[in-house]
Parts: sequence; C-alpha cells; structure tokens
Amino acid sequence: MTEKTVYEHLRASGVSRRDFMKLCGTLAGMMGLEFAPPVKALGAVAGPDPAGLVAEALMSKSRLPLIWLELQDCAGCTEAISRSQSPSLVNLVLNSIAVEYHETLMAAAGFQAEASMRAMMEKYRGQYVLVVEGSPSVDADGIYCTVAGRSSLDILREAAAGAAAVIATGNCAAFGGIPKAKPNPTGARAVSDIVTDRPVINIPGCPAIPEVTTGTIAHFLVMGALPRTDSLKRPLTFYGHTIHDHCLRRPFYDAGKFAGSFDDDGARAGRCLYKLGCKGPTTYNACASLKWEKGLSYPVQSGHPCLGCSEPSFWDGGGFYQGQSAPVDRPAAAAAGIAAGAGIALGAALAAANGAKKRKAEKAEKAE
Ligand code: SF4
Ligand code: F3S
Repeated sequence: MTEKTVYEHLRASGVSRRDFMKLCGTLAGMMGLEFAPPVKALGAVAGPDPAGLVAEALMSKSRLPLIWLELQDCAGCTEAISRSQSPSLVNLVLNSIAVEYHETLMAAAGFQAEASMRAMMEKYRGQYVLVVEGSPSVDADGIYCTVAGRSSLDILREAAAGAAAVIATGNCAAFGGIPKAKPNPTGARAVSDIVTDRPVINIPGCPAIPEVTTGTIAHFLVMGALPRTDSLKRPLTFYGHTIHDHCLRRPFYDAGKFAGSFDDDGARAGRCLYKLGCKGPTTYNACASLKWEKGLSYPVQSGHPCLGCSEPSFWDGGGFYQGQSAPVDRPAAAAAGIAAGAGIALGAALAAANGAKKRKAEKAEKAE
C-alpha cells in the first residue's frame, strides 16, 4: 500500500482545502522562497507562485520522516521550537513531517524509545532528515555524553549514515557552542566535523530561531534538497544579512549617537548599543527581520546588545559587554570607555569588513 500524501493526511484529519492553501502560503514564507509572486494585476507573471509550488509538492509527497537527537545541550532549541508559531511544531508534526524520534518530546521512553528509533532508521534508510541539537563529545571515545549506554558520537555516526540530510540546529550543534568553550573539557565538536559524507546545514543561534529551523525542514520537504548556504553552511535566506543591516537602532549608529550605559539618556532614547558591546555588525542572523515571540521583539529592540550567538566562537570571542573594538582581555568597563572614543571610526572599519564578507557570500551564491 502506498503511503498517504501530506495533503491526504491533512484532508483525513479534517483540514479544509482553504486551510491547506493557507498552510502552503505559510510554508512558502517560512522557506523564504526567493522568487517573486505573480504580479497578475499588472498583467505580468514574475515567477512561479510560491504557495502553488508548495501545494503541488504536498499533494504528491508523503510526510517527511525526521529523527531529532539531543547531544551536549540545554534543550533550549527544542524549548524554542515547541513554541514556534508559523507553522507551529504541532502543525508540522501532524501535517507535514513525522517526528519519529525526539528524546524530549516523544511519549516513549527507555528500551521502547530506542527500539522505535532503530525501526525507523531501518524503514526510512536514506530518506529521513536528521536534526541534531547539541554537540557531540569526541574525547575518550565520546564517554562524556552517552544515551542508553552508547556514546553520542556513535549515535550521531549511526543516525547520520542513514540520513538524507543533517540539520545542525543551535550554536552547539553548528559550531560546538558552550560545550566547546575553553577549556572544552569533553572535546566537543561541531556536527559537521563528524558528519562529512552527508549534506549538513547549520542553523546557529542560542537558541536557533524556531522559524529558521522549521523553514529549513520545510524547504527539504518541498524541494527535496537543503537550501543554498554561505561559507559557514548557514542558509542564505536567513543568514544573508547581519543584525546591523536591518537593526531598528541603525539610524542612531549612522548618526554617531550611542548609549553609553544601560541607564543613561542615550539608552532611554533607544540609541545604538554598539559601545555596550553589540556584535550586530558582525553577526549574521534573521532576528532583526523575523524577530522572536510571534514577531514581538529581538534582543536589540528589547534594549540588549546582540551577543553574536549565531557566529562561531560565540563563547570565546570576547566579553559580551565589551565593545568590538576593544582588546578581549580588557576589563569590560575600560573597554566600553575605549570603544566610546573609537566607536565611529572602528564602526566604519567593521562595516567595510562586513561588506566584504557579504560580497563574498553573494559571489558564492551566484556561482552556485
Ligand atoms: Fe543595532 Fe547593534 Fe548595529 Fe547599533 S551596533 S545599529 S544596536 S545592530
Ligand atoms: Fe543572537 Fe544577536 Fe539574535 S544575540 S538572538 S543573533 S540579536
């Protein structure tokens, strides 16, 4: 018997055709489909209709099987995604993907859970998507992180071997994150250091933005392939711009108006947080455009500098409240003062470096 398509699952669970089309539109948005919608009113069609493309795929494909592993992590990315709202994890689980194994969310436990993972890996060999949250530990054969008596290293290698694609979600999986911070006592590594023979995509952040993870899963479901990435394996749709590029405090930065402390008049007036350590100019992520909590806000909007949580060496790259222009071993207070004096000039240098990085990503994108 052939498996039901996503559309058939939806219809069987009482979803109307109208709601199905709404879900397709939402998924197309989450995937960040880069082509323009048809401009019928002007008598011109600029490209394929994104929602139509998604609908076509969901009407012909069965649900995407998915395994979600947690290695050395705090489960923050799972926490965040279980609150994702468009499309919600619930919608994705019930309608578009089949999460066959997720240590934190699944009802099964112990031997039953392990048996379920094994059966699933066998049944969907070469077809499932493996999402990894947390970093594998490699020291002492991975003994510092074990699940059901096996090292996370073994579990990752085995699960990746049968996967069609691997999604490393969160800074820990993408770059090593806090487990890899000096002195890295467990030998934590990025997932892509271990999995080298399967397509791997990184969704860094601490936590990863839920809609970016679900958007990437949706892309694989619909297109059958991972989206285009930058040189750090991050999807360009979501990591093609810095926080600084779209920051709502940017006009203050351009005008050279900065907050000097968290409670001065500049802070109260919503001025740029660069001198308080903001890493927005060198941090690629979608926070400033997608935002968090149903589009409510993001750290900089809420009054806190960007910490650079989607970049490599997030924890070892310098003090959170240290100006980017300051040497990393200076006390934070002195650093803020130095950054205050040198802020604008160094900001220009950063902007230039930033521009070069962006041009490189764009060049790589064109080359593909
Ligand atoms: Fe926004 Fe930070 Fe850039 Fe200032 S430095 S404009 S607060 S991203
Ligand atoms: Fe992280 Fe900066 Fe966004 S700290 S959550 S990348 S604003």
